[in-house]
Amino acid sequence: MNELKLPKRIRNHVNPLAIYHKNKIELFNNKNSIIMDIGSYRGEFAQRMLEYYGKERNFVFFEIRKPFYKYLNELFEKNDNVRVYDGDAGKSLKDMIVDLKKNGNTIDKIFINFPDPWFKKKHFKRRFLNERLLEELSEILDKKSEIIFQTDQKVLFKDTIKLIKQNKKFKIKKFKNPILRIQTYWEELKIKEGNKIYRMSLKLKDKKKILLKFWK
Ligand SMILES: C[S@@+](CC[C@H](N)C(=O)[O-])C[C@H]1O[C@@H](n2cnc3c(N)ncnc32)[C@H](O)[C@@H]1O
Repeated sequence: MNELKLPKRIRNHVNPLAIYHKNKIELFNNKNSIIMDIGSYRGEFAQRMLEYYGKERNFVFFEIRKPFYKYLNELFEKNDNVRVYDGDAGKSLKDMIVDLKKNGNTIDKIFINFPDPWFKKKHFKRRFLNERLLEELSEILDKKSEIIFQTDQKVLFKDTIKLIKQNKKFKIKKFKNPILRIQTYWEELKIKEGNKIYRMSLKLKDKKKILLKFWK
């Protein structure tokens, strides 16, 4: 991995609600399926994914903290199947997916790995996978697309399951081991600290089944 040139002081958390700009996706010149990673940090997981898939997939990485974003941008500048964006990924995701689909790309996986937990009730609306985003994703994703959510925060995991059940559009599959055996930086750190990791994958339910449920 490249030597990281980071400024000495980096804010621990950035309030996504204070970010207003949206990013527009720079489209790929192929129809390969897309992998997205929200909060790529210093790109450890991103690089491992890229090593695994090579040119078979296109990648879109998001990082809200500017110094990390700049670093990622440099790290992947020579990869024409990678795009890196700053700001709050939640603001741009929907329109990006719409544009990517118009371009003929399907969404394979969206990774939400170890998102900031925002523990205080008054900060819940800052959580990445919130009611609004879940609803937006339910409207634009295909049945094959998968959202992967991983965290060491039991409370966040439970709250998120509650949210998904309320939304009713996704089926939840919990799983034990990292997908493709690829770990994230945070995951390695938390496992070393002795923490348990909670993982789930979400896929859209069959539309007919949803209708039947509403009917009952
Ligand atoms: C706890 S770290 C996890 C890093 C990495 N995913 C991992 O598992 O090693 C959370 C990361 O998400 C970034 N982040 C938080 N909210 C974000 C948002 N709304 N959009 C994009 N990145 C975000 C943070 O800056 C941080 O780098």
